[in-house]
Amino acid sequence: MAELSPKEFAQLIDLSIKLKKELKKGNKPVLKNKTLAMIFQKPSTRTRVSFEVGMFQLGGYAINLSSDDTQLSRGESVEDTAKTLSRYTNCIMARVYDHDLLEKLSEHATVPVINGLSDTFHPCQILADFVTIKEKKGKIKNLKIAWIGDGNNVCNSMIIGCALAGSDISVATPKGFEPDKTVVNEANKSIKVVLTTDPIKAVSNADVVVTDTFTSIHNRDPKRTKKFLPKYQVNSALMKKAKKNSIFMHCLPAKRGSEVTASVIDGPQSVVWDEAENRLHSQKALLVSLIRA
Ligand code: CP
Ligand code: NVA
Repeated sequence: MAELSPKEFAQLIDLSIKLKKELKKGNKPVLKNKTLAMIFQKPSTRTRVSFEVGMFQLGGYAINLSSDDTQLSRGESVEDTAKTLSRYTNCIMARVYDHDLLEKLSEHATVPVINGLSDTFHPCQILADFVTIKEKKGKIKNLKIAWIGDGNNVCNSMIIGCALAGSDISVATPKGFEPDKTVVNEANKSIKVVLTTDPIKAVSNADVVVTDTFTSIHNRDPKRTKKFLPKYQVNSALMKKAKKNSIFMHCLPAKRGSEVTASVIDGPQSVVWDEAENRLHSQKALLVSLIRA
């Protein structure tokens, strides 16, 4: 995501919205005979299905490769896997643990490589999130975003997304759970990134309130959630401190009663289902831009 310019980011958002409108009549098969390899080291519902359905709707084909089913599981190198997949497919999407694996894939592949989530980033999610923000707020610039909870992979990408969009972000986490320092420092060059331990301060005057699970797939500590509760839960009382017309977002999967209450995620300010749907449209925009080019 950091490879994109603000203009390219805005173009991807607009293309997502265009493809979403077009889908009502059926998209043109602009990716006919094109293929996508999808490598999954971790489980997925939205990413897997939206990429696969997206390729299908554009006339292409997606191959699902659980990493256990490939020779990667028997020690074939990432380099050789990247070179091999590049001879068969037009693009590789990978959901991995270690972000370095993605870097290696893209270094050795001769086709584009998309990050479908790593322990450090989740750029596809944030593209869909800004499509949703544009739809709901009519703009992506000069907004205040509040991130509450874990300064995790989605949070890191949200900060980069805010910098590309030109919106400020306040991040409230317990001490020791802050987002990546390099990401924060880089974003601070173009927007205001506030790090705090106070969720009320973070949501005050916010247009968008975002959270995510307290235990990401790569988190192994069973006591982790306890470090966030009750202070960092997004509940109705906290939402009242944000702007009246603020929206609530969550990448899903969500744990009701943990990072968010049912009253919020299933309530009138929540846009999580549009957000989930927009994964499909934004993934297609990304695929069209990368594969057709
Ligand atoms: N938000 C998201 O990436 O969902 P999945 O883990 O289901 O793909
Ligand atoms: N932070 C979560 C996001 C899941 C889509 C995780 O990494 O598990």
